[in-house]
Amino acid sequence: MRKKIIAANWKMYKDLAEVNDFFTFFIESLSEQPNAEILIAPSFTNLRHAFETTRDYTIEIIAQNMHEKENGAYTGEISAAMLKSIGINRVILGHSERREYFGETNTSLAEKINTALKNEMKVIFCIGEKLEERKEENHFNIIETQLKEGLFHINENNWDSVVIAYEPVWAIGTGETASPEQAQEMHQFIRNTIAEKFGKGIAENVSILYGGSVKPNNAKELFRQPDIDGALVGGASLEIESFNKIIQAI
Ligand code: PGA
Repeated sequence: MRKKIIAANWKMYKDLAEVNDFFTFFIESLSEQPNAEILIAPSFTNLRHAFETTRDYTIEIIAQNMHEKENGAYTGEISAAMLKSIGINRVILGHSERREYFGETNTSLAEKINTALKNEMKVIFCIGEKLEERKEENHFNIIETQLKEGLFHINENNWDSVVIAYEPVWAIGTGETASPEQAQEMHQFIRNTIAEKFGKGIAENVSILYGGSVKPNNAKELFRQPDIDGALVGGASLEIESFNKIIQAI
């Protein structure tokens, strides 16, 4: 079933005390039945604390990344099994910052996706074009390639574990958002591309989130689009007030 999802990506923000503070007040402010699943991705060091703090609430704590190998001599890395062992069942993969600063490619991401699925972890797979690529009107090709090389090797029955986040790189952390029309156009393209390969049933059921400067003042218009099923929120998820407004907008 296609689900509405609001996911927070906290990137390298918030230490333990700040995470604790956030949840103390956020849990109080959360309505019992939000209209969407609420996912929050703190840093690795705060995952377990966040998981313990939120376990009785409708908040899922997820990871921002993981390594593609099951285990081994990979200093500083975190495996799927390690995440699973502390109660984490979902991971963001392919965020543009991982692609840009840590050399992740469609090929390495395909491997990460396999490892996550093999370990029964769900995935939020991020895709998005850069500004030059959009200016050159190459954005649909880029997105199609990211999907085909990174994700389309999975089996039909894996799709229940996959959410896609379309995040145009030029809109992340810049305050510049794709217009609702630009976002809808790309979300529809993504859904059609999935339908061509896996059939309409699967394409209609996959949740596709928009990410890139989602704020309280633009969330409603974005969520009104038929192919936008929620958001992956960076900056505006760090403050309870703005994050709550985005949750209310859906
Ligand atoms: P932003 O980040 O909302 O701060 O633009 C979104 C993201 O990086 O997922």
